[in-house]
Amino acid sequence: MKTKVKQVNRDNFSRSEFEEASEILRSGGLVAFPTETVYGLGGDGLLSSAAEKIYAAKGRPSDNPLIIHISSMDDLTQLTDEVSEKANRLADAFWPGPLTMIFQKNDKVPYGTTGGLDTVAVRMPNHPIALELIRTSGVLIAAPSANTSGRPSPTKAEHVVEDLDGKIDMIIDGGEVGIGIESTIVDLTSEIPTILRPGYITKEMLEEVIGEVAIDQAILTKGVKDGLKPKAPGMKYKHYAPKGDLTLYKGLQSEVVDEINKDAAKKRAQNYKVGVIATEETKEMYDADYVMCIGSRNDEESIARHLYGILREFDHLEVKYIYGECFSKNNLGQAIMNRLLKAAGYHVVDVSGRERCDKDEI
Ligand code: TXA
Ligand code: MG
Repeated sequence: MKTKVKQVNRDNFSRSEFEEASEILRSGGLVAFPTETVYGLGGDGLLSSAAEKIYAAKGRPSDNPLIIHISSMDDLTQLTDEVSEKANRLADAFWPGPLTMIFQKNDKVPYGTTGGLDTVAVRMPNHPIALELIRTSGVLIAAPSANTSGRPSPTKAEHVVEDLDGKIDMIIDGGEVGIGIESTIVDLTSEIPTILRPGYITKEMLEEVIGEVAIDQAILTKGVKDGLKPKAPGMKYKHYAPKGDLTLYKGLQSEVVDEINKDAAKKRAQNYKVGVIATEETKEMYDADYVMCIGSRNDEESIARHLYGILREFDHLEVKYIYGECFSKNNLGQAIMNRLLKAAGYHVVDVSGRERCDKDEI
């Protein structure tokens, strides 16, 4: 299949630019498009055959349900008959935006889209191109992140081309995304609303609007291995993995830098290419084949925005060993550490004890 790449200016487009993409979606085909979090791979959320195509293109297990993207609260009533008061309040506060809510699904939503579950994940994205595509096509768009399963999520159209060229009908290139990590998922079908995946919208932000919110414990730990099963099926898979071997270092900044430099030197002496994910504060301190700055330690938004792109860049450079610093788990830091830990397969070196601890919490 030939994949058409269509450029659209997010700040200046006309409806007619979405006609071809809309026609593809209406006839059951696949279109990748930008959202404010990451690029999504879209198909008709009410059509099982479109979900099957999405799973095939991504190489994703079909028990891992998809998020359906909507552009209005009317759209939501097509997917679920049970919208609670809390859900309405969250929608008022955060939609359109990087929040996905889990509802009981109605009969219109095929099990093909929900991975066999009786619940459905829904999000109203805050991106003019995504919203226009939903409106113009009249399709409620099921869209996982537009990467090959197991690869870092795409934050630019080039990443989508890398993974899905030849496998989908169209890619809408609307430039780089703003946030860079996937939406927060909150389950509203449990008695206490529960975060199943951390993201830009934090627990504190949710609690301000609806009171007590729980966090699925499995998401900040090695979960499955420890007998805890994450409630979002997708969180159980090894995710966001670069091709190189990523290890994270925790401890005092100066000791972290020293230990990374020592370990990097050993690998370089063995002729391996090594890379470091550094911060503004430390980037001049490392000796490695490649040192990439993810942003200032004080600017979590920059760290989130650059994370996946840097992991992909190290793949292009064929770096064999990647070293990175740990970040605080406050606010957006929780989502950042959740993604980093997964990318690292939970390999964390605690420099104070200098042991390879493999521990879940840092
Ligand atoms: O920011 C985002 O959420 C991006 C953009 C494209 O919107 N989408 C995204 O989708 O990250 P995906 O498919 O890569 O991740 C969806 C996650 C998976 O972990 C999946 O298991 C979980 O949502 N999920 C979907 N439906 C669910 C449900 N009914 N119950 C529990 N978890 C669900
Ligand atoms: Mg994904």
